[in-house]
Amino acid sequence: MGKRRTVLLLAAITTAWRFARLKRGRTLYRRLQRPLRRRGVLGTARQTLVELASLLRLLWPSHRRARAVERAADATFDRTHNVDTRGKIHPAAMHDIESENWIYSDFYEPSRVELFEQMIDASDIEPHRFSFIDYGSGKGRVLLLAARFPFRRVVGVEHSPKLHRIAERNLRSIRFADRRCGPVESICMDAVHFRIPEESVVLYFFNPFERTIMSSVRDNVVRSYEGNPKSIIVIYLNPVHSDVWDEVGFIKRYAWSDEFIIYKTSHSHAPIRSYRRTLGAEVE
Ligand SMILES: C[S@@+](CC[C@H](N)C(=O)[O-])C[C@H]1O[C@@H](n2cnc3c(N)ncnc32)[C@H](O)[C@@H]1O
Repeated sequence: MGKRRTVLLLAAITTAWRFARLKRGRTLYRRLQRPLRRRGVLGTARQTLVELASLLRLLWPSHRRARAVERAADATFDRTHNVDTRGKIHPAAMHDIESENWIYSDFYEPSRVELFEQMIDASDIEPHRFSFIDYGSGKGRVLLLAARFPFRRVVGVEHSPKLHRIAERNLRSIRFADRRCGPVESICMDAVHFRIPEESVVLYFFNPFERTIMSSVRDNVVRSYEGNPKSIIVIYLNPVHSDVWDEVGFIKRYAWSDEFIIYKTSHSHAPIRSYRRTLGAEVE
């Protein structure tokens, strides 16, 4: 290789390395900026201890086995459907989000397939009466799963353009035979600005954001219902801010387990028996 080529190659490698470091540095800065802005210095220190403790728990053999099973199921889903939905992405690594609300965002992580089916089963819905909205739809795994039911339409709302583009690519690979719903789309926007449709809706949340954003979305739902009462079903997986929904007068807890809670508008409360059969838990 000539001297000039070697110099050019070295310059290219150095630039790439600097760029990679810059990107990592930016992610680290954003990772620190997030908790500091939300919790202050003391709160951040306390939270760091809590997170360290839960990291230690993750090293436990039973946890590691469970994670390995989940990872294998994720890989099988993606391979079978020729899509890319797996992975865990920290919000600080999503540099492309324009909205200031990125600091309230949680990780990207897809819903587990069998759990999604269990939740739809437990909610006792007639999908053809509802549109399905996934708040924080990420790479679109839930859109692919919801499309297998005859919903009027299926909409995903995701604020990361990168994840939204992956979701669009994934949606293009749904086989016609698998799709039973009306139109399916991923929309790239901050969930707080999403306008709730006029028709009856299933609103799906898998731990997308923190309390402040959940409360704004909840207020939008309340306004939408007050302007136009309709059936609303909220499916909330990993319901860490369930109190935000418990406060809403016109929906009640309909079904729940350790992992999720389903709320329904009170007038759509009839078939509680099948929930008992499905999950064997107590009902109000
Ligand atoms: C835990 S993932 C769930 C992905 C998908 N719903 C599923 O269950 O497979 C949460 C997603 O919410 C997105 N998100 C967080 N805050 C958001 C916001 N304010 N507006 C839109 N999307 C948001 C994140 O980028 C992430 O992709």
